[in-house]
Amino acid sequence: MKPPAIAIDGPAASGKSTVAKLVAQELGYTFINTGAMYRAIAWYLAQQGVSPAQREEITEMLPNMPLDFGKDGASSAVLCDGKRLRSELTEPVVNDSVSLIAAIPEVRAFLLHKQREYNESEAVVMEGRDIGTVVFPDTPFKYFVTASEEVRAARRAAQGLTDSISERDKNDRERACAPLARATDARVIDTSDMTIEQVVAEIVDDIKDKTQVQV
Ligand code: DC
Repeated sequence: MKPPAIAIDGPAASGKSTVAKLVAQELGYTFINTGAMYRAIAWYLAQQGVSPAQREEITEMLPNMPLDFGKDGASSAVLCDGKRLRSELTEPVVNDSVSLIAAIPEVRAFLLHKQREYNESEAVVMEGRDIGTVVFPDTPFKYFVTASEEVRAARRAAQGLTDSISERDKNDRERACAPLARATDARVIDTSDMTIEQVVAEIVDDIKDKTQVQV
């Protein structure tokens, strides 16, 4: 039987990364940050001077990019020429271009395959925008984590980041291919007035309830 996949989706700065990481820790599953995968491609293309509008060039480049989507301990990690990408992934050029890169269907198809591969041999908690709708549509464990725009903007500022999350969310919601959307069978959690611990507990309890029912 395929190992379980926990899908956590939501808009930017909704707290889903922090929550997903803690849920993974608590369950002993691998945490996969799919935003980092799109960001790595956006960063690499910016290094090469390729703009998000150059769809054909990007499609041709995809299989030959020196990027590796692997793991570091119990979390996903992206490497370029063998070096782990970290601060590169939140550079302004990446924040500005990533939602345009993520709207390219060929980029999404390329990463979809890699995202599903992570779950072939191990249980994962995967966070992103289309995990419950496209990557793992059959998983019974889907959560849509959200928060008010004010709370999200404040969280972003507290991280020292000033990118326009509302513009990025608009792009992510309005793209034709695998837009940011709540799966109809996802449990919605508005984290505006919740602590991280409360959100994690709600998800872990729900997974445990569902797992008992399935056994
Ligand atoms: O989660 P994040 O903010 O690091 O994601 C960066 C961008 O990548 C975001 O603007 C939308 C895109 N993305 C996506 O389209 N699909 C995903 N599963 C994850 C991220």
